[in-house]
Amino acid sequence: MTTLDKIVSLCKRRGFIYPGSEIYGGLRGTWDYGPLGAELKFNIKQEWWKAMVKNRDDVVGINASIIMNPKVWEASGHITGFNDPLIECKTCHQRFRADQGDIIAEHEKLHKEKKEKIDWTEEKKFNLLVEAKLGVIEGGKNMAYLRGEITQGAHVNFKNVLNSSRLKIPFGIAQIGKAFRNEITPGNFTYRSIEFEQMELQYYIKPDEKESMEFYEFWKNFRMDWYKSLGINPNNLRFREHQKNELAHYARTAWDIEYNTPFGWKECEGIHHRGDWDLSQHQKFSGQDMSYFDEETKKKYIPWVIETSGGVDRATLFFLIDAYHEEKDRIVLKLNSKLAPYKAAVFPLLKNKPELVGKAREIYQMLKANDLTVAWDDRGNIGKRYYSQDEIGTLHCITVDFDTLKDDTVTVRDRDTMKQERVKISELWKILKK
Ligand code: GAP
Repeated sequence: MTTLDKIVSLCKRRGFIYPGSEIYGGLRGTWDYGPLGAELKFNIKQEWWKAMVKNRDDVVGINASIIMNPKVWEASGHITGFNDPLIECKTCHQRFRADQGDIIAEHEKLHKEKKEKIDWTEEKKFNLLVEAKLGVIEGGKNMAYLRGEITQGAHVNFKNVLNSSRLKIPFGIAQIGKAFRNEITPGNFTYRSIEFEQMELQYYIKPDEKESMEFYEFWKNFRMDWYKSLGINPNNLRFREHQKNELAHYARTAWDIEYNTPFGWKECEGIHHRGDWDLSQHQKFSGQDMSYFDEETKKKYIPWVIETSGGVDRATLFFLIDAYHEEKDRIVLKLNSKLAPYKAAVFPLLKNKPELVGKAREIYQMLKANDLTVAWDDRGNIGKRYYSQDEIGTLHCITVDFDTLKDDTVTVRDRDTMKQERVKISELWKILKK
């Protein structure tokens, strides 16, 4: 059975994800991506960018600042409305989210076992924005915030993008970047962190109830299909609609794409109907006209927004969990070929035979020159090397042996079927590409 502990251990052992600043005892809710994690995350972002920006005519990408004028957060409602309910245990002063009943019950059990008092403070609102102080003069520093969502970078640039491109509504602004939240209870590995990456689309449309719901349904399904197209088992994905009392302050309608994790069904991405909330608020607070002039109808209006907002770290975690398989005598990460950190690994049969090593190096360099991420492994026996590459999801293992020196063929082993075939070096690239 796949457990979160097994995933955490694999990630640390093989260089996907480490605890943040570990040599100093770590920092709760922060994580560092190692060599394989950085590749995997990069591949996920690249596939997202391809599907959401590169392959579309109606979406452009931006890359906005993490630190913005603090007025942005007044306008967006985050200073007043971006809160979680907080309670504090009066016995040990630990703080919890009041809406996480199971965690609270677990905490009460600990005190009960020690025959200690169970006493909580009144619930209060806790703002999630992370504060930053800017300026060079001590005492005269200005308060700013690390962005709580990447969204506002798109909305404050709505007019810039419109005026510097030939886009017409409907169109979208896409972005990938870091966001920060003072989470009360970070946890479940990278699932809830204080620093994380988001990948978002803000899609601007006419203010029309019926049309907006058609776009909403389109993007909801488009995003679900994206996860499926990258190999997530469809049985582990579902939609969940937000109840009225769960809706964020900006959302008229919200559905989550959830993934079936070892710790329950959890949110992976949110699809939100934001109406005219953001642009109207920025118009009010900045005094700038944020409306759109429709040349066909000669009418001016504040566009509505359909948003798709996914977490890169959550997607990375869920792709890892979904790919993790324990088979008879191996652990294998069956990552989709577009996401796997290494597309191939090249092995010389013996590392003390210069002619084998030289030939294997040639193949390794040839594949790298063809834009493939390739691993090199000459440690231990071939069985151990297969085991090691399976565990990190490498698609193909290529072994150079003594026959290679005679007939220019190599053995190619497939990660999933474990089948081996003899392939001509001249056809290797073509076969791997397929
Ligand atoms: N712009 C809308 C927005 O930010 P959200 O539902 O608060 O909506 C969107 O966040 C996505 O960002 C989530 O579905 C999740 O994937 C990711 N996310 C949010 N908070 C996170 C956290 N503390 N750690 C990791 N990912 C997080």
